[in-house]
Amino acid sequence: MDEILVRGGKKLSGTVVANGSKNAGLPVLAATLLADGDYLIKNIPNLSDIRTMIKLLKQIGSEVEFTDHELRITTKGIKNFEASYDLVKTMRASIYVLGPLLARQGKARVSFPGGCALGARPIDYHLEALHKLGVTIQIKHGYINAEVNRLKGCEIYFENKTVGATANALMAAVLAEGKTVIENAACEPEITCLADFLNSMGAHIEGHGTEIIIIEGVKELHPADFSLIPDRIEVGTLLVAGAMTRGKVIVKNCIPEHSGIVLNKLRDIGFEVDNAENSITISPGGKKKAIEISTNPHPGFPTDLQPLFAALLSTIEGKSIINENIFSDRFMYISELQRLGADIKLSGNRISINGVSKLSGAPVMAPDIRAAAALVVAALAANGQTKISRVYHLDRGYEYLEQKLASLGADIERIETDALY
Ligand code: UD1
Repeated sequence: MDEILVRGGKKLSGTVVANGSKNAGLPVLAATLLADGDYLIKNIPNLSDIRTMIKLLKQIGSEVEFTDHELRITTKGIKNFEASYDLVKTMRASIYVLGPLLARQGKARVSFPGGCALGARPIDYHLEALHKLGVTIQIKHGYINAEVNRLKGCEIYFENKTVGATANALMAAVLAEGKTVIENAACEPEITCLADFLNSMGAHIEGHGTEIIIIEGVKELHPADFSLIPDRIEVGTLLVAGAMTRGKVIVKNCIPEHSGIVLNKLRDIGFEVDNAENSITISPGGKKKAIEISTNPHPGFPTDLQPLFAALLSTIEGKSIINENIFSDRFMYISELQRLGADIKLSGNRISINGVSKLSGAPVMAPDIRAAAALVVAALAANGQTKISRVYHLDRGYEYLEQKLASLGADIERIETDALY
């Protein structure tokens, strides 16, 4: 298990390029199961969740070649319809193959995802949506066994906005007989990206990006070439890294509109943020102030950047508040930030943060992907040395974050397993 070593205090400066979006890539890769043939998917980040999805596609029968952020996928003659426990336990998003397998093969056997560091994370919305589309579902021996003759268009209403279940319902409904209407659908850019990909494969989807998505089912789809949108969560992470060290950082290959509220919160704190067409620049700006943030579905503040902002606000004088409205248990990282000297109090789904003048380096342990990134950026601003263990969490969602930060001037290195033992 690799570790990351940071000697804090270096001001970041320079230009860095964001990768393609992990959370758009995972459903797009699963959606390739919907049609036989050859695909070329570009702007794919080389990170471990994507590699897990590739393993899953191979297990199902796809041929996949991954070179230089491009994936060539061939899906001819796929017979398998199972996502095994071994893969699902390492990545919940494996559940994304459920909709496409049902749409294409009429059956799927997918290991039931367990809990995770963010809490219980049920999949009832996924299963209810598929049930409405006509799927029979049985849960036995830890597996979801699902079957359908032909999916039938229907009306789906999600009680709460859900990215994953919206994606699964979309990927099933494109091949259903007749019309499907998804109400209270997720509006995240990753859903829009998936719908754009499906439409390029011949699907008839309208309204993506809004709360009502209308899908006219088609008999079959065809493969298509596609390029993923940039990763707005990585973009936010890199901007917070710049902010944390009060440096000037330019992030390229991004879509500033995808990060609207995040940029406004950085401005509210007192940082200067300038957008160009596909880049964002953060500069130290003037006087800083504590702020309040509430996470919400898009276009609200993304829960995935909540731990990053907790790290940043730990260094801003005054009392900041963060309300976590998506995953109520997403505060496992607090005790680790406290080890770095952060003054954070938890009450229910809310934390209050009293900014301290300086964080101080210490050994810490990453509990999940975004918390790992929060610890790395906190370490950049801490006095002395911080060693972050369980870096595999970081690697699930970031392509060598430490190399990008080092290119901006951070004193950061990865200690590889061989060097440790
Ligand atoms: C996706 C993202 C994750 C992000 C989250 C919210 C991927 C791979 N992951 O996760 O990074 O933090 O969106 O933006 O894209 N819920 C249920 N039942 C369900 C499904 C969800 O109760 O069947 C609840 C969840 O527990 C959570 C809320 O709905 O409280 C939203 O979850 P959802 O949007 O589905 O998150 P994911 O798709 O799992």
